[in-house]
Amino acid sequence: MPIHGAYAEFVCLPQRELVPVPSGLDAAEAVSVILNYITAYQMLHRSAKVKPGQRVLFHGASGGVGTALLQLGRLAELEMYGTCSSRGATVVSELGGVPIDYRDQDYVQEIHRLTGKGVHAVFDPIGGSHLWHSRKTLRPGGRVVGYGNTTSLRGEGLGSDRTGRRNRLHGIPIYALYIAGGWLLPGRKRIVPYSIQTLKRWKPALFRQDLITLLDLLQQQKIKPLVAKRFPIAEARQAHELLGMGGVIGKIVLVPKGSSVESGAAL
Ligand SMILES: NC(=O)c1ccc[n+]([C@@H]2O[C@H](COP(=O)([O-])OP(=O)(O)OC[C@H]3O[C@@H](n4cnc5c(N)ncnc54)[C@H](OP(=O)(O)O)[C@@H]3O)[C@@H](O)[C@H]2O)c1
Repeated sequence: MPIHGAYAEFVCLPQRELVPVPSGLDAAEAVSVILNYITAYQMLHRSAKVKPGQRVLFHGASGGVGTALLQLGRLAELEMYGTCSSRGATVVSELGGVPIDYRDQDYVQEIHRLTGKGVHAVFDPIGGSHLWHSRKTLRPGGRVVGYGNTTSLRGEGLGSDRTGRRNRLHGIPIYALYIAGGWLLPGRKRIVPYSIQTLKRWKPALFRQDLITLLDLLQQQKIKPLVAKRFPIAEARQAHELLGMGGVIGKIVLVPKGSSVESGAAL
């Protein structure tokens, strides 16, 4: 997970960063595990510490991280709800979640209608004031795990700047305010941030351990990353344009020159 510089056929990494990939795996599926599934796995098991039978809400449930959360949530025997647009409803149902259309429905009302008391945990990549709405779906003692700031990308919400360009720093004070609010207000409903980069930096051994666990689950076919499309690396621009249009179900993978876009090596 180099974060930067991954659009290349080779990257140079320290040996301690390497994890063997079991033989026989599709490279595009293996590469899809790293960011999306580690994020999903660590948020479920290290941040929220979910237990079988608990109720959870995943925002962006038909996206790359969302579909990983659904697959791992099913393995953890959770009762799952997921916000998505109408395009993603079928995949959310197929992966065992109850879809809630974020464009046409009020998900706070819908969660309380469907669950009564609310959910044990919410996983929120949207950020800004959305975090506080997510908190309203919790039962007492529940947790919102915040892991993104999509509002700052779109030039809307509290994390945006005037030009609408991405500005992550603008979201931080409001994030801190919500975290403090979660501690101070009654109901023990906490907001906790998650960052794969920070956890990898602080606890590299956990990162390795979780990646090995996930590659093992992939080999046992207990998880199956959704690869929406494979593009040759030279068409990276089209891959970004497709992502920008929205409605992508799962992960887009770039494949190196000379490799098949049907299967084979991936970047
Ligand atoms: N903190 C971390 O360590 C970490 C790690 C990985 C990813 N992330 C962040 O997680 C976010 C999601 O990543 P991804 O790879 O899963 O992206 P993705 O594949 O593009 O999925 C995003 C999904 O969110 C949906 N969506 C958009 N607005 C929404 C809203 N208001 N309510 C509910 N769903 C909404 C989209 O649905 P439609 O397209 O159908 O509208 C799409 O399915 C990104 O912001 C990314 O930066 C953070």
